[in-house]
Amino acid sequence: MLSEQFILELKARSDIEQIIGAYVNVKRRGRNLVGLCPFHSEKTPSFTVYPDSQSFYCFGCGAGGDVVTFVRRIENLDYIEAVKLLAQRAGIPMPEDGYDDSFARLKTRILEINRETARFYHAHLISPAGKKGLDYLRERGLSDKTIRRFGLGYAPEDWDAAIRHLREKGFRLEELAAAAVAVKSARGSYYDQFRGRVIFPIIDIRGNVVAFGGRLLDGRGPKYLNSPDTPVFKKSRNLFALNFAKSSKEPALILAEGYMDVVALHQAGFVNAVATLGTSLTTEQARMICQYAQEVVVAYDADGAGQKATNRAINLFGEIGGRVRVLKVHDAKDPDEFIKKFGAARFRLLLEGAGSAMDFAIGRLRQKYDLESADGKVAFLKEFARFMADIRNPIERDVYVTRTAEELRVSKEPLTAQIDYIIRQRAKNAEKKQAGDLTVFASDPKRGRDPQREAHLKEALAEERLIGILLKNPDYHRFILERIRPEDFLTDFNREIFQVICQRLEQNRPIELIALSEQLDERQMGKVAGILADAVSSKATQKETLDYIDAVLAGRRKKTPEELKQMGREELEEYVADLAAKKK
Ligand code: UTP
Ligand code: MN
Repeated sequence: MLSEQFILELKARSDIEQIIGAYVNVKRRGRNLVGLCPFHSEKTPSFTVYPDSQSFYCFGCGAGGDVVTFVRRIENLDYIEAVKLLAQRAGIPMPEDGYDDSFARLKTRILEINRETARFYHAHLISPAGKKGLDYLRERGLSDKTIRRFGLGYAPEDWDAAIRHLREKGFRLEELAAAAVAVKSARGSYYDQFRGRVIFPIIDIRGNVVAFGGRLLDGRGPKYLNSPDTPVFKKSRNLFALNFAKSSKEPALILAEGYMDVVALHQAGFVNAVATLGTSLTTEQARMICQYAQEVVVAYDADGAGQKATNRAINLFGEIGGRVRVLKVHDAKDPDEFIKKFGAARFRLLLEGAGSAMDFAIGRLRQKYDLESADGKVAFLKEFARFMADIRNPIERDVYVTRTAEELRVSKEPLTAQIDYIIRQRAKNAEKKQAGDLTVFASDPKRGRDPQREAHLKEALAEERLIGILLKNPDYHRFILERIRPEDFLTDFNREIFQVICQRLEQNRPIELIALSEQLDERQMGKVAGILADAVSSKATQKETLDYIDAVLAGRRKKTPEELKQMGREELEEYVADLAAKKK
């Protein structure tokens, strides 16, 4: 366990406003700050930061907690790693002893393996034995400088060349398998994951080699092979070359489809290019992009698949409120080929001329209809109107409507009237839906379903109030504990939280959120933050406290028929006697 002094110092030096502000765009609202929740997809902000209690809470998804919980979730770390990161940031040395850090150690080990593996592949590429790989990369137009900068490599065609090298360096087979540079066969032997492939190391924003992509030169197998997810790598949360692109001074990031596109773009001076890693764009990746850039230019392949993926990306960015433009390469299948054929200057022109996401969507819509025929025009205009109704800014809307009306030689007024009608209709529906949502929220605050809580809602709410009172008034703890014990709580979830808090109070340990997050998991921290968020204005009087205690105890005494059936004779007699005593 970490010392109290350390935890409190960490708290003092880790201001939640600053830390969250580095990840989320939050705006001040009264004493608090609000913004779009980074943990779920939303258009209206329900993510709130409370500087007073140094906590955050999202009313949409129930994520919440202290700085440590936040860092854990956003960086995908365990408790101790998150504390380390914060300590580092604050410049406080970490106490060494005591906690179980075997998982953290494994991760460090895997990162060492990955680094050594990348070195090995690169050394092989530039050695005589790697000629085939080097020839290939040069053939594709890469300079030695680019190859070095990206640390590109070549995996020998052997079954276990990398394994042998890494074992000599002192790594164990199981560790190599955990890093996914070795694969265990059904027969129990190990072989290299990558063989006879050109290697693209994937490096995270902290400069760690977290995974690899490997391109086949010839022979059988998929064209590209990517590392599977490992303890240090999640495909859906990484982007190729973001380590470089994040520090480019450009206001936009370029999102391409392939490794080769990105490498070629960087070589041509577009050092703000990134790519996904063998999967289509995920929400997490889209969010990361928006964190680093004000705008994204999607530069996918020119083929049908690329255009479909573009559409998907536009929708994703739309959902999280990111600005998108679309770059279309002509007379080449992808940015890599385009640059090779026409040069960097021409690509820069494409980039500057990249149209808005709306232009792209309208273009696609027009392709769907035969605009020469009257029927085709009508059908197009109907769908176009629905499309336009999605644009919130009326000036922007007018630009597209005017242009399209002119191009199709129809008059603008009826089109605008139709669009306004759709917008009004939608607003009405949204109002209805929101009223519905609110009732749902009150009875089931998306904090994960808890059947116990639903079955004893009144008591559960009282339990939560008591937790809130205790957190804000630790000096009440004697008063409360003399009257109610954790065992009296009806819901297991709240009981555990209450127990942890009481225990800490009895041991005179701090109950700041940052200290609690050592013992409570993310869901529990979310609940605690939710309780605090609800309790901002409540003044805990003794009377109020007693009422809550009574409510919980009364619920405790009230048994369901099921529970009565389960009781032993003695227990039942006691229960009845207790009820009789209360009646008097
Ligand atoms: P492409 O085939 O368009 O990639 O696939 P590329 O980079 O243009 O390939 P070459 O080297 O110029 O021919 C786009 C991306 O899709 C993933 C890879 O991440 C690739 O960069 N992919 C493709 C796979 O993961 N596996 C495959 O078999 C193919
Ligand atoms: Mn290509």
